[in-house]
Amino acid sequence: MGPGPQYPHPLVSYYVTTPIYYVNAEPHLGHAYSTIAVDILARHMRQRGEDVFFLTGTDEHGEPVVLAAEREGVTPQELVDRNAPRFREMGEKVNASNDFFIRTTDPGHIERVQEIVQRVHDNGHTYEGTYEGWYCPRCADFKTDSELGPGNTCPIHEIPLEREREDNWFFRLSAFQEDLERLYEERPDFVQPGFRRNEALAFIRQGLQDVSLSRPRLRWGVPVPWDPDQVVYVWFDALLNYVTALGYARDEDVTDRYWPAFHVMAKDILKFHAIYWPAFLMAAGMELPKRLFVHGYLLMGDRKMSKSLGNVLDPFEVIDRFGSDALRFYCFREVSFGQDGAVSAAGFESRYETELANDYGNLASRTLAMVSRYRDGTVPDARPDSGLAADFEGAPARFCELLDRNELTQALEEAWGLVRRLNRFVEETRPWDLAKEDEQASRLDEVLYTLVEGLRVVTLLLYPYLPVSAERLLAALGADLEPPAELGSRGGGQSVDRIEPLFPKLEAQT
Ligand code: MSP
Repeated sequence: MGPGPQYPHPLVSYYVTTPIYYVNAEPHLGHAYSTIAVDILARHMRQRGEDVFFLTGTDEHGEPVVLAAEREGVTPQELVDRNAPRFREMGEKVNASNDFFIRTTDPGHIERVQEIVQRVHDNGHTYEGTYEGWYCPRCADFKTDSELGPGNTCPIHEIPLEREREDNWFFRLSAFQEDLERLYEERPDFVQPGFRRNEALAFIRQGLQDVSLSRPRLRWGVPVPWDPDQVVYVWFDALLNYVTALGYARDEDVTDRYWPAFHVMAKDILKFHAIYWPAFLMAAGMELPKRLFVHGYLLMGDRKMSKSLGNVLDPFEVIDRFGSDALRFYCFREVSFGQDGAVSAAGFESRYETELANDYGNLASRTLAMVSRYRDGTVPDARPDSGLAADFEGAPARFCELLDRNELTQALEEAWGLVRRLNRFVEETRPWDLAKEDEQASRLDEVLYTLVEGLRVVTLLLYPYLPVSAERLLAALGADLEPPAELGSRGGGQSVDRIEPLFPKLEAQT
């Protein structure tokens, strides 16, 4: 064996992606939701010491961009240059820790799309043909008859569709029917949750038709290398971002280090990710994604929140008032990740008040105050209370297993159960009474140690959901951010600091 690299990469790498968002709309809570979900997973995996790469970005080609630019009297490039930063800022605002932000107008992306599309062509998976059918410019999707809404409308955007007829290049999707069926049989977890897998598989079993690989006339896109009068169909251009980014995000190409990816998205784009994408990768001779997780929609009222339906809850406003942690927490507490679910300002305020400000924030403030008052700010070195320790036992491992299965809401519930348990512990043990009696000094040591240690353990779990507050609280507890740990894995002796409330009460806000 030759000399290895000086800093060998960990064996496990964890590459996770959000969809890349269309830049012709304003970022809204729906986009933030996917970005936050992926950020929670990325932060948790980094915390566990895995070699993480988290990718997000913007999808900047396609007809809607050309149309929007025309309406506004600017060039498509000007439009995307103006809008892409809003999505980048959205990520920063929700405290996303992405390792790269890809734009499909990056030269590094365009070059690599051409290489891979050329390979698919050279491998014989393309042909020239005439497409005739219904096209929704907002979905950038050709609808089959069974996908049409009443009166030849788009069922998602509720707009009348135009019948298109054009000469373009086709991708032989139909030739991958059996390979895809085999993929779904051999890897039953390829698409999660299971009911989404079944949906994708049913779509495949219906029989796959070939799909357009390119579009003529449109100048805004990646030119097809062997036929520059055409541009690559925006969905293949967009899907390829997941691979191309690894080629140029760093000084060196990190594709081998991180590919294959784990993709997170909502159900609206299941077909592209669960069917077109693996088939296209097979055609290019590339390794398939590790897994797809398909989440549901955040609803306001009973409809999907989106720009075109005009019922948008502005994540920027919520964050300015309550901080990014509160929004991150609310989204995954209120709506079971994977399902559709409604969010509302009233629901947000109620969870903020009862759970963040009272259950967690207050527990933290009280614990720090009692250690400071009764033990001069030093955590007693004691053994954990046996009853509480028993209730905490195994929880960190269960939490990690839930996140390994992308159960973001259940993992949060597991952690929240511990927060509630700690609050009960305070009520049961009444440290303020123990402090009045000298003979209870060692019991008070035990109770305070257990509280600090319990708070530390639960905060390590909550860190990916509440990164700002968790880091503040860990610092105040004299603790480090480390992988999820069992209660009692740290002794006492540290000094603690009192801090301002983690989640100030609503009435205290201006
Ligand atoms: N550009 C394509 C994706 C290409 S990926 C290779 C696209 N863009 S989009 O801007 O429309 O974003 C769709 C994605 O945004 C959804 O799949 C989901 O991840 C997120 N969401 C947008 N609205 C949402 C909700 N109301 N609820 C949950 N997620 C939402 O499609």
